[in-house]
Amino acid sequence: QLDGHPDYMRKEIAEQPEAMRRALMGRLDERFSTARLGGLRLEPRDLRSIRRVKFIGCGSAYYAGQIGANLVEELARIPADAEPASEFRYRNPVVDPDTLYVAVSQSGETADTLAAVQELARKGGRVIGAVNAVGSAIARECGSGVFLHAGPEVSVASTKAVTNMSTCFAMLALLLGRVRDLSVADGRRIVAGLVALPSRIEEVIAQDEHIADAARRFSAARHMFFVGRVRGWPVAREGAQKLKEISYVHAEAYQAGELKHGPIALIDGDMPSVVIVPDDELLAKNIGTIEQIKARGGPVIAVTNADLPAGLADIELRVPRTEPELDPILFGIPLQLLAYHLATVLGRDIDKPRNLAKSVTVE
Ligand code: BG6
Repeated sequence: QLDGHPDYMRKEIAEQPEAMRRALMGRLDERFSTARLGGLRLEPRDLRSIRRVKFIGCGSAYYAGQIGANLVEELARIPADAEPASEFRYRNPVVDPDTLYVAVSQSGETADTLAAVQELARKGGRVIGAVNAVGSAIARECGSGVFLHAGPEVSVASTKAVTNMSTCFAMLALLLGRVRDLSVADGRRIVAGLVALPSRIEEVIAQDEHIADAARRFSAARHMFFVGRVRGWPVAREGAQKLKEISYVHAEAYQAGELKHGPIALIDGDMPSVVIVPDDELLAKNIGTIEQIKARGGPVIAVTNADLPAGLADIELRVPRTEPELDPILFGIPLQLLAYHLATVLGRDIDKPRNLAKSVTVE
């Protein structure tokens, strides 16, 4: 079943273009430059009545939710955020009838996420699922939503399911935007960006050898920072999560602006930073962040689609261009490969990392 791949994680990383095509299939409406998500069972009038969107999930599903929240705010201009399901369920949440809650889960069986959905149902909240496993407990409990269509995911570290989560959230954000004031031109731009995204992923995967070289170069590091701001922040968090999960290297993500408020004290030659640098309106700020790290002797791996000044970063992992709003989906791919290769160099059990389960169905 590995089809020549050394492990499931590698196989599932490689499957991402195909998995994403499945998630997009039949869901993009080129005529009206919007998305068609019939499984939501929400009419335009219902979609218009949503005043807030909240994503709830655990681990990588929570970080994907954070990407989703950014997309909803950017494209639909509806306030949105993400919260770990474990926090949500235990803090007696205020459940607001005008909020659309999105329960995010690959397995559809994660106990905390299921309990959060039940808490929402009990309080009359509107909750939809963003679930990979059809027929799972969360999918059944939600009753409506968007299936991820990533196909079965075996590796504990989630790759193709996470990528399809943010892809589905881009479609949700597009739909919410287009029943409001997102222009036809912007809608068309996002639709075209999504259609092209699977091929862009192929381009990232083609750089596998270069990413493996980067991993070998930093294989002695015991700690790593992942740094991003705004769109890049959840990307950094997910990158750190992947590295922790499968390589056991201590990784911490922080927002670039927080550098000077604490983390900078830890920067030295033994603390590499992976900096997320999209070519967007924050490019100059992110270049400044790299300069501050370099000035303290910290090695920098820049993940970027911008033309950075020569020699600024020690290593560049190049990402193809897409629409800026969709950057977070694509920027996650090189980070999966970086974690994968680091864990491989360190001889870890890639598919079954210690202490972790594919889905945590107990408390
Ligand atoms: C964790 C896994 O236990 O559960 C993570 O280690 C995963 O990789 C998280 O993201 C959530 O799982 P699910 O199935 O609800 O998406």
